[in-house]
Amino acid sequence: MKVLPISKMVHEQIVDHRIDNYPLMRHMGSKYKLVPWIRETLESLEFDSALDAFSGSGVVSHLLKSMDKTVYSNDFLHFSSTITKAVIENNNVRLSKKDLSFLLKENDCSDDFIVKTFSDVFYEKEDLVFLDQLSYNIRELKSPYKRAVAYTALFRSCLKKQPRGVFTISGNLDRYNDGRRDLKISIREHFIEQVQLYNEVIFDNGNRNLSFNMDIFDFNHKLYKPDLVYLDPPYVPKSNDNCYVKRYHFLEGLSKYWEGEEIMQDTKVKKIKKKYTAFSYKRTAIEAFDKMFEKFSDSIIVLSYSSNSYPDLDTLISLMKNHKSNIEIRTKAHRYSFGNHSAVKNAKANEYLIIGQD
Ligand SMILES: C[S@@+](CC[C@H](N)C(=O)[O-])C[C@H]1O[C@@H](n2cnc3c(N)ncnc32)[C@H](O)[C@@H]1O
Repeated sequence: MKVLPISKMVHEQIVDHRIDNYPLMRHMGSKYKLVPWIRETLESLEFDSALDAFSGSGVVSHLLKSMDKTVYSNDFLHFSSTITKAVIENNNVRLSKKDLSFLLKENDCSDDFIVKTFSDVFYEKEDLVFLDQLSYNIRELKSPYKRAVAYTALFRSCLKKQPRGVFTISGNLDRYNDGRRDLKISIREHFIEQVQLYNEVIFDNGNRNLSFNMDIFDFNHKLYKPDLVYLDPPYVPKSNDNCYVKRYHFLEGLSKYWEGEEIMQDTKVKKIKKKYTAFSYKRTAIEAFDKMFEKFSDSIIVLSYSSNSYPDLDTLISLMKNHKSNIEIRTKAHRYSFGNHSAVKNAKANEYLIIGQD
C-alpha cells in the first residue's frame, strides 16, 4: 500500500496538538508561555537535530520533539532530566492500569525516610506515608522509562500540592490556602490524574531522542553534533538568588530517594546542597558564556535572554560575535508572573532570542 505524505496543514495541526498537550510544570524561568514565539523563530531556521542544553521543565525540548527534530535534552538536575527521560527520550512506553495498581499498593518493605525527615515541614502525614511507599514501588519497576513517567507524574503532583509550587516555605501554610482543589486532594489522588495526563504526552516522533544529566560543559558535542543548540542558562541574580536546588530540593531528592545527597539538617526545609554553576556568579559568568559559545560554535546557537540580566545584551552579543559571523536578535515584551515579591510577580521584561549562525 502506498503511504501518502501528510499535507503540511495536517502536520501543523499535529504539532499544535502536541504542543498544547504539554502540562504546565511550575518551574522558575520556564519558557512555557513563550513557546509560540520560540516556535516561530525555530521554524525559520534549518536544522534536523537540536540540543536543549538547560532543559528545566522540558517544555522547549517537547516543542523541538513536536517539530519532529532529533532532540538531545540536558539538565544538571536529576529531576529535570528525569522529566525529559519520560517524555522526550521515551517514545512509546506508558504506565498501564496494572502498573498503576502496582504503584499504588501498600507495602511493608518501604523505608520511612520521607515521613521521618519531612513531618511538619511539607505535606500531611498521609501524603508523606504515600510518598515513601510509592518511592519504593517506583524503584521496583523494571523499565527505566516507566520509572521516569511515574516520577514525572509524581513531581507535578508534589508541585500542585505545595503552596506556590516551591519548597522554600514550610510549616503552617494556611495563609496560602485559598480553597483550591489542588491543595485539597491528596498526593495519591493527584498522582492518579497525572499518570493519565503524562501517558497522553508520550509520542514517537520517529527519532532517537536522548536525555542527559550533566553539567553542560561535560556534554559530548563532538559525538552528538547537534545542528542547533538552544541555551537557556540561569543568569546572575540581581538580589534574591536564583538557585534551582533551593526551590526544588524536595523534587531533586525525591527523584533519587535522597541517595548520595546530604541533607542540611540545620535548615528549616531540610535542603540539600546547592549545585555550583558558573552562570550564577558575576566573576565567572562572562567566561562561562564565552566557553559555551566556543564549545557549540559548529552549531546554530539560539540563546534566551531577559532584559536586566547580567551579563547585559551588548556583552552577550559581542561574546557570540567571537564565534559566529551572523547574529540576529528577536525581541518580545513579556510579563513574568513568578516570584516572591509583588514587584517581581508582575515584572515586565523584554525577552530576547540571540541567534548566531555562520
Ligand atoms: C532558566 S532554567 C531553564 C528553563 C527551561 N528552558 C524551561 O523552559 O523550563 C535553567 C536550567 O539550567 C539548569 N542548569 C544550571 N546550570 C547548569 C549547568 N552548568 N549545566 C546544566 N544545567 C544547568 C538548571 O537546573 C535549570 O533547570
